[in-house]
Amino acid sequence: PTSLYKAFRESGRSYIGTAWTMRANETAEPKIIKQDFNSITPENAQKWESTEPSRNNFTFEDSDRYVEYAKKHSLQIRCHNLVWHSQLPAWVTDGKFDNHTLISIMENHIKNLAGRYRKDCTQWDVVNEALNEDGTYRESVWYTTIGEAYLPIAFKLAAKYSKAKLFYNDYNIESNNAKTAGAARIVKLIKSYGVRIDGVGYQAHLASETTPTSGGPLPSQKVLEAALHATADLGVDVAYTEIDIRMNTPATPAKLAVQAEAYKTVAKSCLAVKRCIGMTVWGISDKYSWIPGVFAGEGAALLFDEDYNKKPAYYGFLAGL
Ligand code: XIL
Repeated sequence: PTSLYKAFRESGRSYIGTAWTMRANETAEPKIIKQDFNSITPENAQKWESTEPSRNNFTFEDSDRYVEYAKKHSLQIRCHNLVWHSQLPAWVTDGKFDNHTLISIMENHIKNLAGRYRKDCTQWDVVNEALNEDGTYRESVWYTTIGEAYLPIAFKLAAKYSKAKLFYNDYNIESNNAKTAGAARIVKLIKSYGVRIDGVGYQAHLASETTPTSGGPLPSQKVLEAALHATADLGVDVAYTEIDIRMNTPATPAKLAVQAEAYKTVAKSCLAVKRCIGMTVWGISDKYSWIPGVFAGEGAALLFDEDYNKKPAYYGFLAGL
């Protein structure tokens, strides 16, 4: 097949998705989505700062557009996200709320946001990035105010207000290390409360060569598989949720070839693990990728170049599906 998601479905898996920011002038994007993707993730529209910028003042216009688009075009939608330390407005971070009040703020947010799309979201990233690199909990306002119980509480509330598959989502858990063990610990913690967790999202912001930000080279397929198994073997689904594979720019044919192999390896690692249900890339075109803005001197991380041409990475990924 000449479609990413069709190839993956023929291999018995569920979806290939992309993060998306709707831009009226980029008419190539809806066409590429129709051709290659059967799932979308709103890149920013559902984050707390976008949906509850001040207390109990909900703004859903932007988010609604993605949910409606997904319905209209029969796409799955990974809704992203409910509880995170980043893109969280100052009224939450600096509000100095006590435990009880912060839990009620969390419930009100989940009730309004997840409840609005009760049957529409295929998946929700319920908690995003709760871990430090050494596997301990990040000192977010959630953790310092509520303690680790904020995780099962968030999942319990998400299950109350949403029919979606409920995911824990984090980065740098793709090679089996202390942080991966932390993700496994979170799955067990939530289950120990008798609360539902359906999956773990492996963001997979990876590098195909050694970069100044200590990325790369890509973990081997074996290492990727072991990391997926570390949580999948606990009885949850797993997915790659934010794939990009950056390089030191400018891109050269040689680097693009290495990147293409890297995309193929990631795809094969998912297929090798039965419970790996889907993969999402973090954007369509290099033109709008978040990477150059965050990792200085790095970029060219996606499947389509700045002019929306398919890169070697596209064909590498397709070959692995
Ligand atoms: C990024 C977006 O791509 C940017 O547009 C935004 O400025 C910052 O956030 N982990 C996540 C995503 O879970 O939500 C982040 O998305 C990338 C890292």
